Amino acid sequence: MSELSRFGISVEKGLLKSFDKLINQQGYANRSEAFRDLMRDALVKSQLENETETGNVIGSLTLVYDHHASDLNDKMNDLQHRHYHLVVSVTHVHISHDDCLEVIVLRGEVQEIKTLANSLLSLKGVKHGQLFVTLPSTEIVKPKTNSANNLNNIEK
Ligand code: NI
Repeated sequence: MSELSRFGISVEKGLLKSFDKLINQQGYANRSEAFRDLMRDALVKSQLENETETGNVIGSLTLVYDHHASDLNDKMNDLQHRHYHLVVSVTHVHISHDDCLEVIVLRGEVQEIKTLANSLLSLKGVKHGQLFVTLPSTEIVKPKTNSANNLNNIEK
C-alpha cells in the first residue's frame, strides 16, 4: 500500500450511526476501508463520465435472456463478432429450461463498450442485464492542483 494520509471528517451523529450500521452489515472491518471504497467509486464514476480523460476500461456485461427467442443467439453473436476487439471472454450458463445467463468480459474504450452493451441489452428477448465498468487502481485520476485547492477551501 502507498503512503497513507489521515484526515478528520465532521458529520451529523445520526448519519454516522447509519453509516456505521451499513458498513458493519456489509462486512467492512473499519470506516477507513469503507471510505477508501467510496472514494475510489466516486473517482472511477467521475472519470468514466468525462470522455476526454478516459482511455481503456475493463468491465463485464451480464445478460439474462430467453433461450427460445428466435434469432437472439445469432444477433448476440453477430454483435460480438462485429466488436470482437472489445470482447475478452464469454461465459454462458443455462439457468433454467427457458433462460440463459451470459457474462461478457469487455475491455476497450468506454464509449464503444457502452454502445455495444446497449445494443445487446435492447435486443428483443433480453430480459435483464447490467454493465459494470471499472479502471485499474493505478489509472484512477489523481486530483488536479486547482481541484485540491477547491477542496481545501471547502474544508475552511
Ligand atoms: Ni443456455
